[in-house]
Amino acid sequence: MNSGEFFSNKPLSLKFFSVDRLCMNSDEEESFKKQFKDSFDQEMRLEIVKDKVDEISRKIDFLEKKLNNTKKTVEKKKFMIFLDTADVEEIRKAHSWGVIDGVTTNPTLVCKTGRSFEECIHEIVNIVDGPISAEVVSLDSEGMVKEARELAKIHKNINIKIPITPEGLKAIKILSKEGIKTNATLCFSANQAILVAKAGATFVSPFIGRLDDIGHEGMQVVRDIVQIYKNYDFKTKVIVASIRHPLHVIEAAKCGADIATVPFDVLEKMVKHALTDVGIKRFLDDWAKVPKK
Ligand code: E4P
Repeated sequence: MNSGEFFSNKPLSLKFFSVDRLCMNSDEEESFKKQFKDSFDQEMRLEIVKDKVDEISRKIDFLEKKLNNTKKTVEKKKFMIFLDTADVEEIRKAHSWGVIDGVTTNPTLVCKTGRSFEECIHEIVNIVDGPISAEVVSLDSEGMVKEARELAKIHKNINIKIPITPEGLKAIKILSKEGIKTNATLCFSANQAILVAKAGATFVSPFIGRLDDIGHEGMQVVRDIVQIYKNYDFKTKVIVASIRHPLHVIEAAKCGADIATVPFDVLEKMVKHALTDVGIKRFLDDWAKVPKK
């Protein structure tokens, strides 16, 4: 191995260490010193390039992660329809159409069935494989949490409807830490929606029909919530509730809400169109006139 080869593979410190101890004439020494300098300059340049490459790789990693997150958000965003009823016959019928993603119930809806709450919920979870809301009736956070834990044991798809009050917020916070899904119900303002999102609610249900009933524009509350959640990337999903007619569903979908929970009669109205019926009749009448072989 010649001296050039020897030094070219060594780290700088070793090169300096070695040159002091080598016996060489002044020409050789000069030539080695020049070689060290060239090699040192080259190494410095390489270090700078390496730093730059590292910096660029870090930037690429960051941008890739950001892009993937954006892709995920875009892919995940789908509009869901829940059925707002505790009537299992309605749920069975709607489910057979293949368009129901979940179910919401409340004490009034259960009362209408004339059956026990437990009976209804046990049947519903066996029909629809999606989020099923079951509501607590306690008013204190301790009672809400206790009820919620019991309800959550019934099935993995159950989420717990909690009314938005200070006690409700406390309960939502505790349950979200335990991994129990919640649906913050009786929401009538964007402020309430901000608070439940901060508490960790899985869903929030703005009741638009009841707001319309008292002369407020329910859908405006939904638009505000969707905008605020988007601004701050809140994970709470917006269920547009207290829906009275098909236009409410269209508006909910247009403003970017995640879910519309619809009574069965609204679902029927959504599928029905007079021109579809007239069209079918005309096609069948004309088909009857087509000569058959
Ligand atoms: C939602 O989860 C509620 O059960 C429901 O939408 C209330 O609707 P209402 O105002 O028609 O009672």
